[in-house]
Amino acid sequence: MAAQIIDGKKISEDIRREVKEATQRLQTERGFVPGLAFILVGDNPASQSYVRMKGKACEEVGFYSVTERMPAETPQDSLLTKVHEFNADPRIHGILVQLPLPGHIDEHKVIESIDPRKDVDGFHPINVGRLVIGEQCFRPCTPAGIQELLIRSGNDPAGKHVVVLGRSNIVGKPTANILLQKQLGANAVVTVAHTGAKDLSLYTKTADILVAAIGKAETITGAMLKEGVVVIDVGSNRVDDPTSKSGYRFVGDVHFESARKVAKAITPVPGGVGPMTIAMLLKNTLQAALNT
Ligand code: GUN
Repeated sequence: MAAQIIDGKKISEDIRREVKEATQRLQTERGFVPGLAFILVGDNPASQSYVRMKGKACEEVGFYSVTERMPAETPQDSLLTKVHEFNADPRIHGILVQLPLPGHIDEHKVIESIDPRKDVDGFHPINVGRLVIGEQCFRPCTPAGIQELLIRSGNDPAGKHVVVLGRSNIVGKPTANILLQKQLGANAVVTVAHTGAKDLSLYTKTADILVAAIGKAETITGAMLKEGVVVIDVGSNRVDDPTSKSGYRFVGDVHFESARKVAKAITPVPGGVGPMTIAMLLKNTLQAALNT
């Protein structure tokens, strides 16, 4: 049977519409809208493009947003001062420092300078700790988006064996922590596999739900999967493609054509997990505003 294609674009549009409606209600009932501040240090083209897309998304749902662009050689103290300004600004409910930061800046120190109540990325150790012990907190956007994709596509992870490939602080670890909680939309048995594994297929073969976040193009093939698996592909890898106008295209960590023959459901790249990250950032920022 043909695999269900999990449409992240459609699901993210639904969430953005919900956030827009809630923003209108907040404006009517309490007279303010959610505010999100972006800080972009340096001129990494991918980071510039992400921040532009996030700013545009804010505009579309009616948020107030500001983008602070700082040169690559900005001293760490100047960046910390900027974060403190936004911490103290009542129009700002969420602060996003786009990562990665230039090498001379201590990323952990910057993240820890953000007021945890405005940490809509969910990267502050207070939010990470709350996530691990199952308390209310801001949850990182891509992992929260993965959970929404599973729930809204009718693939509830409860009681399933979820295998997460990758252990990054942005995707792998928080995804595992979200899905193992004894909560609605979670309650899965979770295995985390990573580059330390001798043979990844030992783990992938046992997955009811596979979350691939290893950052290597088309590494996971259909032969490594169990019949009926649900595949969530977080990868977005640029590969050369002389047949396309740009000369390149994006592929996931999963080999889509072989995997879709085995899977019950699968996310495409692009149009799967990618659009969910911005939608969940908007949702977290709305929540930060509602919390005030
Ligand atoms: N760089 C790549 N992904 C992210 C993200 O989710 N948040 C921030 N702040 N930077 C990133």
